[in-house]
Amino acid sequence: MKIIKVKSYEEMSRKAADIIGAQVILKPNCVIGLATGSTPVGTYRNLIEDNEKGKLDFSAVTTFNLDEYVKLDVSSPQSYRYFMNDNLFNHINIDKENNTFVPNGCAKDLVAEGEAYDAKIKAYGGIDLQLLGIGVDGHIGFNEPDEVFTAPTHEVVLDESTIEANARFFSCADEVPKTAITMGMKSIMQAKKILFIANGKNKKEITEKAFFGPITPAVPASILQLHPDVTVIISEE
Ligand code: GLP
Repeated sequence: MKIIKVKSYEEMSRKAADIIGAQVILKPNCVIGLATGSTPVGTYRNLIEDNEKGKLDFSAVTTFNLDEYVKLDVSSPQSYRYFMNDNLFNHINIDKENNTFVPNGCAKDLVAEGEAYDAKIKAYGGIDLQLLGIGVDGHIGFNEPDEVFTAPTHEVVLDESTIEANARFFSCADEVPKTAITMGMKSIMQAKKILFIANGKNKKEITEKAFFGPITPAVPASILQLHPDVTVIISEE
């Protein structure tokens, strides 16, 4: 594990974009796993700038997002598909229709959707670089604390703390969907490289637990200690 400590959110975002950019330059048709939340927004802003300046070309890149709320239409600004279009895909030269994937939270059969999502990741040769943030309860994607690590892409019941934390994107906590579909630990852990970013005081304790505490499904991100190529960028803020 490589830990990079930086001073600010801006520095974290620049460094994360540089690592993703290096991946795109080294392998123009790479597969990148993407995350939502406030943490990666600055990273995406930097990637957009680099694309505008002609430094990065996303025309052959494929992306797979970690998760999506269940039964929230993609036209809803709170859906993760909408978030990704708005914060990244609409502003870079990626083939949004064909090369960007987000689990379909409105699928009738979420088990089948999860299987198809994992099969698609496999068919693309797996994820070259997976970007991850962390939830206040230690979740990655929407893999909530549990008694076991769940391998496939699957439906999850969101924890109260997650609903509270994500309520800021909705008009009130009651509006936050209670369930989501998330990439499971298998596709995440099979990514060739992991890029983990964390910012803000409320992430300090859980990030320490994740990387220096016991490996346990009670702290889902702790599984990353078993991954051979993890880069952690933490801002001192
Ligand atoms: C959501 C996402 C996670 C993300 C987390 C933290 O729950 N499913 O992938 O890491 O939020 O979000 P933030 O960066 O806004 O703290």
